[in-house]
Amino acid sequence: MYAGLSRADLHEDPIVQFERWFKDATEAPLHTPNALSLATATPDGMPSLRTVLLKAFDHKGFVFYTNYASRKAREIEANPRAAMLFHWLEFDRQVKIQGTVSRVGVAESLRYFASRPRGSQIGAWCSQQSSPVGSRQLLEQAFESMKRRFGEGEIPLPEFWGGYRLSPIRIEFWQGRENRLHDRFEYLREGEGWRIQRLAP
Ligand SMILES: Cc1cc2nc3c(=O)[nH]c(=O)nc-3n(C[C@H](O)[C@H](O)[C@H](O)COP(=O)(O)O)c2cc1C
Repeated sequence: MYAGLSRADLHEDPIVQFERWFKDATEAPLHTPNALSLATATPDGMPSLRTVLLKAFDHKGFVFYTNYASRKAREIEANPRAAMLFHWLEFDRQVKIQGTVSRVGVAESLRYFASRPRGSQIGAWCSQQSSPVGSRQLLEQAFESMKRRFGEGEIPLPEFWGGYRLSPIRIEFWQGRENRLHDRFEYLREGEGWRIQRLAP
């Protein structure tokens, strides 16, 4: 059982608090500690959920990358609110984040795209993510033809691919404890600051 979380342990700034827990997760031998569940919803409230990878975070928000025509992107464009869930099972911890979502700038997406392996860059060009595809073979043919098209040259950023940043309005830290008396603290955005309160488990 891990140590509990008390009000005195918490940093006043939830981004610093997140950084502490994220550091614990990344320094432990966890598989993909930056994986999170991302929930979006249509404007009429039908939710959908998938895993994405956290690629950056700071006081502006939490960044992931995706295809701008995917289901998640379509939902975000129509209803720019989302929730993120990190679950670090080995630490008996979860972090829940809710906020508003907007696209990151093209320069920022390009910087990240350029850092990806060449195969992933080509893959981004040939997947119309979340649309029906006739067969695996069609995907592989598209990959080979994109590979030929780009040759040895630099692969440009597709205009249909890039990042989103979730700017948080609520962040909750959950630490599992004995007898289900878990520790939960939520940070609620208030003006430029945050209000912190303990929640019942
Ligand atoms: C461990 C893991 C990491 C993933 N990371 C991403 C990611 O960073 N971006 C992304 O678009 N899809 C990622 N995926 C795929 C998504 O879960 C999802 O299948 C895809 O984005 C299509 O989702 P949508 O149809 O809801 O838009 C990941 C899947 C797994 C299992």
